[in-house]
Amino acid sequence: MTQGSSAPRGAGVIARWSSMLDVDDDTPRLTLGEGGTPLVHACRTSERLGVNVHLKLELCNPTGSFKDRGMCMAVARAVQAGARTLVCASTGNTSAAAAAFAAAAGMRCVVVLPAGKIAAGKLIQAQVAGAIVVEVDGNFDDALAAVRELSKRPGYALVNSVNPYRIEGQKTAAYEVCEDLGGAPDWLCIPVGNAGNITAYWQGFTEFHELGHTHSRPQLLGVQAAGAAPLVDGAPVDSPETIATAIRIGRPARGDQALEAIEQSRGAIIKRSDHDLLETYRRLAGESGIFAEPASCISVAGLEHAVATGLIRQGSTVVCVLTGHGLKDPDTAVTVVDPPLRSAASADAIAEMIDQ
Ligand code: F0G
Repeated sequence: MTQGSSAPRGAGVIARWSSMLDVDDDTPRLTLGEGGTPLVHACRTSERLGVNVHLKLELCNPTGSFKDRGMCMAVARAVQAGARTLVCASTGNTSAAAAAFAAAAGMRCVVVLPAGKIAAGKLIQAQVAGAIVVEVDGNFDDALAAVRELSKRPGYALVNSVNPYRIEGQKTAAYEVCEDLGGAPDWLCIPVGNAGNITAYWQGFTEFHELGHTHSRPQLLGVQAAGAAPLVDGAPVDSPETIATAIRIGRPARGDQALEAIEQSRGAIIKRSDHDLLETYRRLAGESGIFAEPASCISVAGLEHAVATGLIRQGSTVVCVLTGHGLKDPDTAVTVVDPPLRSAASADAIAEMIDQ
């Protein structure tokens, strides 16, 4: 299936899906080669759970997260509108993507981050791409409130997912899922932070369905971290806390839209503890070979819980979105692994040690 697409998979989101996106002939075809990410059948996980699990590897995007899909659109439109400065708040991945696309577009980029709560790899990505990095005392929600004000200045463009072009770009992941499966999955499991991505997927699935490209839409399973679960708990969280810093968010900007999408899909929003999340994080890499960052793995932790409780039935076809790369957060990774063994550089010594 190649519905709506006008260019090959590697052409980037705007060129490939221009007929499905809010772009015109003058919109720059800005790309870093985002989109077209693999959908991998996780054989061993499928066997263990009794469902047909596919992993959407959004961590294969150029800056290592799904943010690139929406950022190419947001930045292309900002260029078109004559903006000179991009600004965003971020838990890390948005800032990495904004900095990269700003560099490619020759724009200034200001990223505002909660001090001390950004994974090392993400922070360095924004820095090497030349962004102005501002750390603030406060969490993501405080940073977003600040940049909403800041971006009112002339020549500034806000590129958080409150920007509608971000949603436009990110919805293309749902198109790809339907193309690769030859239809919609039964369930889509996805981490929820600021709630932009789940909103975007639902829009993409809905558009494909309305165009008659798919017979159905998936049920959505949104998953939040237990210490940052405003949509599950039904109230904002003033001091969100979780090891999954990417989704350490207490006031999701698109929370209402996400809940509406989940309801329309007859899905569910659930939360998982950091303890369960870290177990899944480690198991996923050891079982599927895919190293995703902690926030991403909460989609699989949610799936495991939903299968155990009977919410997702045996035999279902499920897609888990792996939103960001594990390499971005080495500090969390080292907490779940054993240190390397130490040996003399001889075959006998190594054999003796590993066969013990
Ligand atoms: N997974 C990862 C790896 C993320 O970085 C984010 C959000 C999400 C999931 C949740 O997506 O916010 O659309 O519900 N990261 C944002 C950032 C907040 O600043 O990088 P969401």
